[in-house]
Amino acid sequence: MFAPVLLLLVTLCAQGANGEETLETKRHGHVSVVIVGGTGDLARKYLWQGFFQLYANQVSSGHSFSFYGGGLTPADKANLVFFEILKAVSCAKDVSEQRCAVLKEQFLRLAQYRQLKTDEDYKDLTKHIEQKLQQEGLEEAGRLFYLSVPAFAYADIAEKVNSSCRPSSGVWLRVVLEKPFGHDLVSAQVLASQLGTSLKDDEMYRIDHYLGKQVVSKILPFRKENEKFLDPIWNKHHIERVEIVLKETLDAKGRIPFYDQYGVIRDVLQNHLTEVMTLLTMRPPKNLSSSEEALQNKLKIFAHLLPLGKHQAVVGQYQNYNKEVRNELNKTQDYLSSTPTFAAVLAHVDTAQYDGVPILLLSGKMLDERVGYARVLFKNEVFCVQSHHSVHCKPRQIIFHFGHGSLQYPAILVSKNLFKPVQTDPQWKEVTEHKDVSVLDLPLSDYYVHAPKVQKEAYAELIAHIFAGRKNNFISSENLLASWVLWTPLLDSLAVTFPRIYPGGAVNGNLLDLRVKGKGLSYSNEGVVIIKNDNRGGLSADGYQVMQGKYRSADMVSAWAEELVEKLAADIQDAAEAAVREGGVFHLAVSGGSTPVALFHKLVLDHFSFPWRDTHVWMVDERCVPLTESDSNFRSVHDHLLHHVKIPYYNIHPMPVQLHQRLCVEEDGGADLYEKELRSLVNGSSFHFVLLGVGYDGHTASLFPGGQAASQGESLVVLTESPAKPHQRMSLSLSAINRAHKVAILVMGKGKHALVTQMSRVKDDPNKYPVTAVRPKNGSLVWYLDYEALLG
Ligand code: BG6
Repeated sequence: MFAPVLLLLVTLCAQGANGEETLETKRHGHVSVVIVGGTGDLARKYLWQGFFQLYANQVSSGHSFSFYGGGLTPADKANLVFFEILKAVSCAKDVSEQRCAVLKEQFLRLAQYRQLKTDEDYKDLTKHIEQKLQQEGLEEAGRLFYLSVPAFAYADIAEKVNSSCRPSSGVWLRVVLEKPFGHDLVSAQVLASQLGTSLKDDEMYRIDHYLGKQVVSKILPFRKENEKFLDPIWNKHHIERVEIVLKETLDAKGRIPFYDQYGVIRDVLQNHLTEVMTLLTMRPPKNLSSSEEALQNKLKIFAHLLPLGKHQAVVGQYQNYNKEVRNELNKTQDYLSSTPTFAAVLAHVDTAQYDGVPILLLSGKMLDERVGYARVLFKNEVFCVQSHHSVHCKPRQIIFHFGHGSLQYPAILVSKNLFKPVQTDPQWKEVTEHKDVSVLDLPLSDYYVHAPKVQKEAYAELIAHIFAGRKNNFISSENLLASWVLWTPLLDSLAVTFPRIYPGGAVNGNLLDLRVKGKGLSYSNEGVVIIKNDNRGGLSADGYQVMQGKYRSADMVSAWAEELVEKLAADIQDAAEAAVREGGVFHLAVSGGSTPVALFHKLVLDHFSFPWRDTHVWMVDERCVPLTESDSNFRSVHDHLLHHVKIPYYNIHPMPVQLHQRLCVEEDGGADLYEKELRSLVNGSSFHFVLLGVGYDGHTASLFPGGQAASQGESLVVLTESPAKPHQRMSLSLSAINRAHKVAILVMGKGKHALVTQMSRVKDDPNKYPVTAVRPKNGSLVWYLDYEALLG
């Protein structure tokens, strides 16, 4: 066994021109590397190898190093395992055997295991580092802590590093963190703020090892090098679809305590595949090494991604998963986990460039092959009548092949009927000798193939970046939170979905095949769901029900939020289709505010056959602010609905709150104008459908308590005063609302429970609770209350 502690002067050797070891005299400062969790799985598989490579590459640069493996186990028990792990590191192919032996021996001498459990342990580590520096007369360059531990331990360790291991000023501190960074938006925010109390943002390196993969880190340079070919075709007119895929053959055995809490979406899609998606769709930064510009461009994509709901996703679980869960988590036979091990999700970037281009993200365990790639498939304008084998009839695609699969190595493939790519990176080469294999429907010889000259491990690449202080390939807090903003609603909506069970491997057959329809994704065939309703491991069958009943003597529909919104969207579509069938037109009046946003998204994403062309959209009420302001109701309806559907401009009716460059002045007659427009376009001034919400004080539209909602006579549109800011409003009157064919009042969220309870008891009283005066004369009223609002 090697001596674990070394207080000798570090003798740095470099290979001289004649191949002999020479003493390196240059000194660029000492770096202490600490892997907390230094005997764990990740450290064993990748990290020590990565740091050994760093050492081997830097040994001649004048830096000196010491390496510490930290863990909770006392040193006398962990030493043996620790040095066994270290002994397994290997040298690059071009290093001679003799040199390799020397490097390994040095590396082992520079390494030691330390118990890192208490504050005292961290203080002792610092003392040790400082003594070493002093005794050996070394200048310190930096301290690198790699936290390869479960995420729940991050905040505590970061705090210990901050209070006990911070180096003196001028010496860098870098702390590396591994995913998971939270399991949803809130937990990611909490973790970010906890870490933020101990570490500065520039000291944190959040790893997504996909960003260290050679092909992934080449996506932006490739797009830039080839922009003259790509610019004209990298858009919705030419791209048929994008697929980002990581298929695996292994199961989750051995990792269940982690995996069962996270599942495939959090494990792979939220991070690795999302990063690849942004690299493919963001505008490449003008300066590729500017991490700030890259981040800003990436954030723009996040801002334009259409929200994901459960109709954009399918989930599956391999058949043996639950057995593994019961074994590893010591659960009884009737325990059932609904954690997905397979997921496919359909994303869309809602910009003029990519509008309508389906982006499929897919990953799963226990599939037929191990392969990772991103494929950009282009439309083929050529229709081949007979010559199907000629080159212009074949698929036109670019494949960023991360590894494995039939090809076995990382490469970028461009089909020959697209263009011959430019490749300027000296570390890459063109491959012209092809194996007899096909990659995604094309024989390899039909592609221009470029591959790295030397294959490098992602972790080793990222470790080299951390050492150099280059931050481009790491996840910033903003990037992380933007990703959780995208994924959290989907994860919430899937919480009550049981995954389709698949047997695993080749026998999956077509069970997991997918169908893309409009903006929705589903399995392409009806699978047999093996699981019984009452056995869903904590999920009750009620979770799937839509309940009908009475509320305030009107009809009521109640369900969990997602189902409720789905039902309301379906009811609006039914009303629209019926109105268009009968009279060729559908008049819909909608409210602003946050409650209907989910409904608007549902209409946009899942109701692509909605008759928008024959629909007129009116406003129920408006704040007296310019329509472009963020608190304008029209602005919200515009951003969440109108902007995304094909509705003729002249069918859109914002309220004229701004006339003569002023807002809601009575003499300007804005309310009268809207009323005239309504009377002239809407038959009998009766909207087909009015969508209302209700405020905490019982107001609806902009009809507030005490505002004499009842005494507005026959006026259809009125100016009102709100107790909240901005005070002035324009609103449909009760008279206009009560002429409608159908009125829906949508109330959602726990916060409205007290109101819903109170209102269930009060009599109709328009002045105290204006919403109670909504009683359509010849139409119907339905309350849509989600379970949280109804039951608290
Ligand atoms: C990890 C996931 O981040 O990525 C694993 O936790 C997954 O579940 C792995 O297997 C895939 O990485 P690679 O590099 O093998 O494609």
